[in-house]
Amino acid sequence: MREKIYITRKLPAGIVKKLEGNFYIDMWDQEEKAIPRDVLLDKVKDSQGLLCMLTETIDQEVLESAPNLKVISNMAVGYNNIDVEEATKRGIAVTNTPGVLTETTADLTFALLMATARRLVEASDYLREGQWKTWSPMQLTGMDIHGATLGIIGFGRIGQAVAKRAAGFGMNILYYNRSRKPEAERQTGAQFSELDDVLRESDFISILLPYSSEVHHLISAKELSLMKKTAILVNTARGGIVNEDALYDALKNENIWAAGLDVFEKEPVNPNNPLLKLPNVVTLPHIGSASIATRMKMAELAAENLHNALVGSGDVKRVN
Ligand code: DGY
Repeated sequence: MREKIYITRKLPAGIVKKLEGNFYIDMWDQEEKAIPRDVLLDKVKDSQGLLCMLTETIDQEVLESAPNLKVISNMAVGYNNIDVEEATKRGIAVTNTPGVLTETTADLTFALLMATARRLVEASDYLREGQWKTWSPMQLTGMDIHGATLGIIGFGRIGQAVAKRAAGFGMNILYYNRSRKPEAERQTGAQFSELDDVLRESDFISILLPYSSEVHHLISAKELSLMKKTAILVNTARGGIVNEDALYDALKNENIWAAGLDVFEKEPVNPNNPLLKLPNVVTLPHIGSASIATRMKMAELAAENLHNALVGSGDVKRVN
């Protein structure tokens, strides 16, 4: 009998077709609605492969419901939605989609940095709401990007790709990372510093770390208090790295100047989240990797990982 793969979100037909040659495929067929938990728990019961999104929490309960599961393929580079330790104990391979989304996520990070610094959303709303009556000297003035110092926290693939963009804009670049990256330092001119120094000296802080319990609330009240009053925080990694209550206080009390947020502690973010009411916050709904080409590549790689891991040949991007 053919092995069964369950896919937790509607994927393009071409991608599903490739898997259909070797496996029996079942799929949650909605694009804009995440699979309900009870359906997921039921569907994994007889599946050997699971292709999931970052919206699904694959924890002990799911793994216990899936006695036949061999491979979990996450359609994301981050995999903090999966209990990898528990999966490993059970001999289940976990895969992700590194590399294919690096440049697209770096583009969005830089776009968000610029939109926040130059108040693009606020300026657009100002015009559309009919408030634009005249040009005036200090109207909607923001922060310069060229010549400013960018502090990148987390200098992996995406952090380095952001540094390349920043170098092109004439920024000075500092970074904090667990290990130093001499080759990337040479390529981008970025300099390694301790976290507190990066926070103190930067005009922009870009968070680009993978999320784990070790970096939960890495940026909290103390860290925000080290930042310049004119500084801008940009988070395109995971919401849980920044303590949102502390960030709200820092923005409200003007201890930092603005924030650009693509990610939130709880997603989708509650529209009543106080951060969304602040004028100095630019918010996006987790769209870092959302270009058509990149999302297709992510889906293809997720399918390929699952296929190769199940058939036992070819390249597999395993995280465990
Ligand atoms: C990821 O891949 O982890 C992003 O957050 C979504 O593309």
